[in-house]
Amino acid sequence: MSTLIILASFFQLCIAQLNFEGSTGILYSPNYPDNYSNNANVVYTVTVPVGNYIHLTFLDFETENPYDFLNILQGGGDDDELVSLKNVSGEQTGTSMDISDSQSTLIFKSDLTTTYRGFAIRFDAVKAGTLFSPTNSCPSPLHASSFGIVTTPSFPYNYPNNISCSYLLLAPAAHTIILQFVAFNTEDGYDIVWIYDGSNNSFPLIGKYSGNKIPPIINSSGNALYLYFRSDLVNNFQGFSGIYNSVSGVQPVTDPSTKSKKNLLNWLKGKIGNSSN
Ligand SMILES: *[C@@H]1O[C@H](CO)[C@@H](O)[C@H](O)[C@H]1NC(C)=O
Ligand SMILES: *[C@@H]1O[C@H](CO)[C@@H](O)[C@H](O)[C@H]1NC(C)=O
Ligand SMILES: *[C@@H]1O[C@H](CO)[C@@H](O)[C@H](O)[C@H]1NC(C)=O
Ligand SMILES: *[C@@H]1O[C@H](CO)[C@@H](O)[C@H](O)[C@H]1NC(C)=O
Ligand SMILES: *[C@@H]1O[C@H](CO)[C@@H](O)[C@H](O)[C@H]1NC(C)=O
Repeated sequence: MSTLIILASFFQLCIAQLNFEGSTGILYSPNYPDNYSNNANVVYTVTVPVGNYIHLTFLDFETENPYDFLNILQGGGDDDELVSLKNVSGEQTGTSMDISDSQSTLIFKSDLTTTYRGFAIRFDAVKAGTLFSPTNSCPSPLHASSFGIVTTPSFPYNYPNNISCSYLLLAPAAHTIILQFVAFNTEDGYDIVWIYDGSNNSFPLIGKYSGNKIPPIINSSGNALYLYFRSDLVNNFQGFSGIYNSVSGVQPVTDPSTKSKKNLLNWLKGKIGNSSN
């Protein structure tokens, strides 16, 4: 039984075919958030419940332009008539598109040189005959996967006025978190995200960010980062999209007392070693 499962997943890897079913989900490029490999060839099929069409949100998209392409086709499964709607490459973060079908096939191909991070694309099922409408509410606050995306409500559509959202990024013990914004645009000085080096706002503040400059890459010193976003009563912008990734290994502990004790011990050992020569 288990051999069969291993063989099945091995076979799936060989043909690099990934199937997604449901009302929402995220498609990641191979190795994401590390760079995809050269000569990649991955086919994604998305199937949403019948009576719905597919809305795609490019939470992050960066490929070698114009060599590494994601071809987005309408149709999938046994459907013989796949129609290419868009063949995209380069920088596409913050765009979105509709596919008027409950099935879509996405083909990612990279060439033989130069790789980029790739993509994180969310799909949402939307009832046929209606328009996609962004949720306008905060995403759920806990983010405990090994990597993922955090966005302001409705991204890439404007966030609402007068909203505050908390995001707790939690990595396993003995891991730290790297947070990298790939899109950032808020009302300068008024719609702000505060980032704390720990699990709540009583930990040290790493920085507060607003405006349209991408903040620097942020590293936690422990296994938690806490983000708090607040918009004021007027003027709303696209907001942010950020990738978090947990990496194993903690920052070296630099407790000066241990250090000097160790040094003293080494010095003493050295002395003893020398005297016995
Ligand atoms: C479109 O995407 C496919 C991958 O499905 C690629 O092989 C092809 O060269 C692309 N065509 C254009 C015109 O960019
Ligand atoms: C990985 O991708 C990033 C951007 O997506 C790019 O700047 C970088 O050069 C790539 N690194 C390597 C080793 O190819
Ligand atoms: C802003 O939001 C707060 C908290 O939800 C609410 O109490 C307040 O009435 C809102 N202010 C306006 C002007 O909508
Ligand atoms: C913040 O987290 C620390 C450590 O888990 C906890 O002791 C403290 O009560 C928390 N503070 C708040 C305001 O939640
Ligand atoms: C955070 O980590 C990244 C990736 O490991 C590194 O490039 C960057 O210099 C670090 N930033 C700081 C402020 O330590």
